[in-house]
Amino acid sequence: MSRVVSGMRPTGRLHLGNYFGALKNWIELSQRHGCRFFIADWHMLTTGYEETGALRENVRELVLELLAAGLDPARCLLFRQSDVPEHAELALLLGMVTPLSWLENNPTWKEQLQELSKTKLTRTLSGERSAAPAAGARHELRTFGHLGYPVLQAADILLYRGEKVPVGQDQLPHLELSREIARRFNSLYGQVFPEPQALLTQTPKLPGLDGRKMSKSYGNALDLSEAPEALAKKVMGAYTDPTKLRKDSPGHPEPCAENPPGCAVYALEKLYLGSDKLRSIAADCRAGKLGCVADKRDNLLPALEAEYARMRQQRERFSGVDVEALLAEGAEKARAEARATMREARRAMGLA
Ligand code: TRP
Repeated sequence: MSRVVSGMRPTGRLHLGNYFGALKNWIELSQRHGCRFFIADWHMLTTGYEETGALRENVRELVLELLAAGLDPARCLLFRQSDVPEHAELALLLGMVTPLSWLENNPTWKEQLQELSKTKLTRTLSGERSAAPAAGARHELRTFGHLGYPVLQAADILLYRGEKVPVGQDQLPHLELSREIARRFNSLYGQVFPEPQALLTQTPKLPGLDGRKMSKSYGNALDLSEAPEALAKKVMGAYTDPTKLRKDSPGHPEPCAENPPGCAVYALEKLYLGSDKLRSIAADCRAGKLGCVADKRDNLLPALEAEYARMRQQRERFSGVDVEALLAEGAEKARAEARATMREARRAMGLA
């Protein structure tokens, strides 16, 4: 039985891409393995340190989203990173052996600096942020904490001697760094930490409603908390195939020269429908016997709606749960493990 560890930042609502990217694995793994899952609120501060007013509430909401999606807190440890201060202590120690060049070359760091400075700048220019600092002032992203993001993430994992880390594909560079940091620590002070491996799902990339990758920032996502009418509206408006002008034109469900991204509806159907059904949908679409409107209405929407109804029910069931108590209980168990690892890490490094 492998030791499974993973975290999620409380960034707001979860969408289907998050679900198929990592959460589905969290839920499946928690049936069979000892799992430690946490809400990475400190990681939120690495870029979001200026706006922290909603942090606590966002943690609560993420916990409720996880429960609604099917994570059973009785079968795994679920806690908040900042409730276990050992994460910070281990991050400090790991930071001592992590060369700056590793962090500066982290592709995620480079991309984020570019991306975030762009969005912050436009937000400031459009005057959307009333509480903006001085006019034209830029949110400083080149901070010690932001650069050290992967060191904190390595600490998150190694603190529980994590071996398997279910994450989305975007986390692969961070996992690589976690392994390098573990290796360096072990080579300096003796074998303390295993080298953690990422665990991806079968479908790490999900198309959004416009055919691009599903992402909150593209505005093309199906949130897990979508109400029935909103779900129907989004599905009925989803990207299919621009060459299929009428319902009896031949369509291209799979990516191809005529429809390079492939039909987003068909890609989502692959997650929910059986292979016989899929084969007949694809054949009828190609033959011009199935129109996109009918396909969405009769095939994708009912399948999605069934899944969403299940989640709505779970959400309802957990609406009265005392999230703070649940997190406190998780943190207490996590701390017992964390303390034991810290004793060993300190001793290995020659500390008291
Ligand atoms: N960086 C991860 C993300 O943005 C969140 C995270 C923080 C994490 N610490 C972790 C994931 C440890 C796995 C293990 O999704």
